[in-house]
Amino acid sequence: MPSNFVARGPEAYDSYMGRWSKRLASDFLDFAGLVEGGAVLDVGCGTGSLTFEIATRRKVASIDALDYESDFVEAVNTRKGAASINVRQGDAMALPYESAQFEMALSLLVLHFVPDAVRAISEMVRVVKPGGVVAAAVWDTFGGMPSRRMFWDTVAAIHPPAEQRRSGLLIRPMTRPNELQTAFQHAGLSDVAATLLTIRMDFESFEDFWIAAVFGQGTHSEFLAGLPEPTQRQIESSVRAAYLAGLPDGPRSFASSAWAVRGFVTR
Ligand SMILES: C[S@@+](CC[C@H](N)C(=O)[O-])C[C@H]1O[C@@H](n2cnc3c(N)ncnc32)[C@H](O)[C@@H]1O
Repeated sequence: MPSNFVARGPEAYDSYMGRWSKRLASDFLDFAGLVEGGAVLDVGCGTGSLTFEIATRRKVASIDALDYESDFVEAVNTRKGAASINVRQGDAMALPYESAQFEMALSLLVLHFVPDAVRAISEMVRVVKPGGVVAAAVWDTFGGMPSRRMFWDTVAAIHPPAEQRRSGLLIRPMTRPNELQTAFQHAGLSDVAATLLTIRMDFESFEDFWIAAVFGQGTHSEFLAGLPEPTQRQIESSVRAAYLAGLPDGPRSFASSAWAVRGFVTR
């Protein structure tokens, strides 16, 4: 299976993650540094958070985008309007592009879902010209996402068999400190630079948080639905208490951090 990402359609993705990846896309592009007049590839474009941010900046000559999920590809095609974006379905581990075709290959929040991230990085390197840029970002899933921690720590405390599921979600490939940076160095990229990008995830209310967390992307809703009803109710009420933290229901804001790494192709 080329993807470990469980998709539930473009709208569910946007409410769960797309609204936040839009925020991250801007900081990520500032860090990666768009190559003026270059040809850019967005690997794992999802519903287009990064793709459209690239287009908005009007700096590059061409934009290609690729995702494994065909309904995400369709969503980008529908939403792009007059913007000149070539979007297609494909696998990050076997990019359907010529070698040395782009000045930049970018990937936002994708490599932790690709079964062989090292292979995907080597593909990004292959399709970029010498002197070009490869850059990627992944969430710091273990220590950098308190809202997700709040959810899964509560679930595991109430229902200990969920501990394994929590580990699988918190410790994803490429998300440990320095892991992505080391992978870039091993891929032969030069002048590899790394940073931590932090955005805020702002929710209107507990419902805004809960509906997206459970019924958005991933398998959370099936997981919860598979538990006895009293356990489901206990989890929801304990997560609600953690969200409210003793205050009336309303907006809450959580920091979320992503590791970002950039390097130059030297062949
Ligand atoms: C968390 S989403 C990020 C999407 C988008 N870059 C964003 O920031 O909103 C992860 C994306 O990676 C895609 N993906 C996972 N494995 C892939 C693969 N092997 N090839 C192409 N896309 C893949 C998923 O389909 C999904 O759209």
